[in-house]
Amino acid sequence: MSHSAFYKSVPVKPSEITPEHIYLNRRQFLKAMGVIGAGAFLASCAPSEQASESAAPLDLKVSATTDELGDPINTYEEITNYNNYYEFTTDKRQVAVLAKDFKTSPWQVEVYGLVNKPKTFGLEDLLRKFPAEERIYRLRCVEAWSMVIPWMGFPLAALLKEVEPLSTAKYVRFESIMDSSQMPGQKQRFYPWPYQEGLTIEEAMNDLTLMATGLYGKMLPPQNGAPLRLVVPWKYGFKSIKAIVKIELIDYEPNTLWSTIAPHEYGFYANVNPQVPHPRWSQASERRIGESGRRPTLMFNGYAEQVAHLYKDINLKDFY
Ligand code: MTE
Repeated sequence: MSHSAFYKSVPVKPSEITPEHIYLNRRQFLKAMGVIGAGAFLASCAPSEQASESAAPLDLKVSATTDELGDPINTYEEITNYNNYYEFTTDKRQVAVLAKDFKTSPWQVEVYGLVNKPKTFGLEDLLRKFPAEERIYRLRCVEAWSMVIPWMGFPLAALLKEVEPLSTAKYVRFESIMDSSQMPGQKQRFYPWPYQEGLTIEEAMNDLTLMATGLYGKMLPPQNGAPLRLVVPWKYGFKSIKAIVKIELIDYEPNTLWSTIAPHEYGFYANVNPQVPHPRWSQASERRIGESGRRPTLMFNGYAEQVAHLYKDINLKDFY
């Protein structure tokens, strides 16, 4: 399978833009422009100083209706109304409701640790510096459901190269925002907030590893991790940490929220593997949201060709 199957640009021609009754204020619109970075769209619709302050329609299409395996993309409705985001609630259908007013601007991400050039990036800097591309990925949750999602974003590797990791940097640790005034779930003392995740430096540098800033050609909605979340498509969904504010390069394997709570159930690697059951359920098959019945789970969620080499020295039969 060639890489190009994953890297689809978004061919947004003005003629393809149909109203979808989604109206954004001018500031959001400008941000969206940064996210999509589509020249054709800019040329015809660039908001000038004369542009209306009030509202502009925004409906951008995805470049395909399926992923590279031919599986249909889930609907925007499904992707944005069935979420895991414990900072808000454990009820998947309530996340969108509770996260509705989550404040994503201003937003900063601190990238630091074992690097030559530590830097704190404002979200706008990131959007300007790293033009967004579309990546249609399967997301496989450890709970054995899955979706196909057309993300927008840029490779994490591009951001890391910017800060020049030292050769001693072996792992990357990610941290989500901590703000219990906006996130009622963070009042639950049971969880060791903030949410944290980690990757090896090789995983972080892999081209599939995405910093997502949008989906379906629109800005990322709060429930999906706005304004910036990680997407690691060959790993269980809990690795794909939302609302990131810190990225630290370190020389030890970091603790993660889930491995702190239940190390035997949610390990550090968490590669999708149909042969290794979760202690409480099988991982051999999954329920694709929007479908009836189950489909077999694929090794590395179908991305073995891109990532299997990362694990040649690891016994994948060991849990995670
Ligand atoms: N990130 C944070 N900060 N908090 C969370 O609770 N849940 C994870 C992951 N990232 C989670 C998170 C889990 S378990 C999954 S399956 C995915 O987000 C779900 O992403 P989605 O809601 O965009 O489908």
